[in-house]
Amino acid sequence: MSYFFNQAMQKLISIGIENPRLEIRLLLAAVLRCSPSSIFSDVVLTSEQKKLFDSLLAQRLQRKPIDKILKHREFYKADFMVDENVLSPRADTEILVEEALRLLPNGNVNILDLGTGSGCIIESVLLEKDKISGVAVDISERSLIVAQKNADALNLNSRLNFIRADWFDDKIVKIIGQEFDMIISNPPYIPTGDIAKLMPEVKNYDPLAALDGGNDGYDSYKRIAKIAPHLLKYGGHLLLEAGCGQAQKIVDICTACGLIHHKTVADLNGIARCVIMQKPSH
Ligand SMILES: C[S@@+](CC[C@H](N)C(=O)[O-])C[C@H]1O[C@@H](n2cnc3c(N)ncnc32)[C@H](O)[C@@H]1O
Repeated sequence: MSYFFNQAMQKLISIGIENPRLEIRLLLAAVLRCSPSSIFSDVVLTSEQKKLFDSLLAQRLQRKPIDKILKHREFYKADFMVDENVLSPRADTEILVEEALRLLPNGNVNILDLGTGSGCIIESVLLEKDKISGVAVDISERSLIVAQKNADALNLNSRLNFIRADWFDDKIVKIIGQEFDMIISNPPYIPTGDIAKLMPEVKNYDPLAALDGGNDGYDSYKRIAKIAPHLLKYGGHLLLEAGCGQAQKIVDICTACGLIHHKTVADLNGIARCVIMQKPSH
């Protein structure tokens, strides 16, 4: 193992990084512009490359997540640009994409993504079904810029519209202005008081608006459940990502707003992660 590789490993281990070898390979792959699988611990760097590697490692030692250092992240089947203005897409969220694809027909349907962030959910769905069009809403202008750049890169701009809006706005249904076959949302769901306890990678680098779910964590679910019946076609589905232990209460909140529980899907860790509700048919 080269000296600098070993040193970098020790530094990452000292701050409690779980998989230091993988992370160093990812950083080195970015420096050498090659695949991480072709990087070994005896790698040799020029002084310029070493300088760049040291600057990336210094950011990681500040607990900046790897995807925000490298400015992109794989999600479902595509690569998404990410920066400090968007939530880093999480592997758990891919369940929403899988369930949406299972429910959506191949025809001309339209879907709405509430709180699009990087655009990873709706854009992954659109990539798989070429007749679907969509609307992506976010309160953050800066995150919409990222989502738009991702749509450009993935050649989806002709099928995707972006609206900057706040779902707590009284006029939100009018602002969005149409009914959809499906609504997808991964809203902020961390109780405000728990945010300080999150890992530094999350609390210091994901935007607060992407995390803060209000006092009990359910503020956005309550609001989305209220507006969804006005934005869905009869028989349309609402897919919500749930935080750990939140699924049943989300079902109750949505049921109280007139939606029917279709199913709840667990993630690979057995956590009920995706709540699927349906607007009754007529
Ligand atoms: C948990 S992040 C999800 C981002 C992305 N959909 C994903 O799954 O990676 C929640 C998103 O909702 C947006 N958001 C938060 N409150 C909002 C509100 N009141 N109205 C519209 N968007 C909101 C945030 O800006 C953020 O992009």
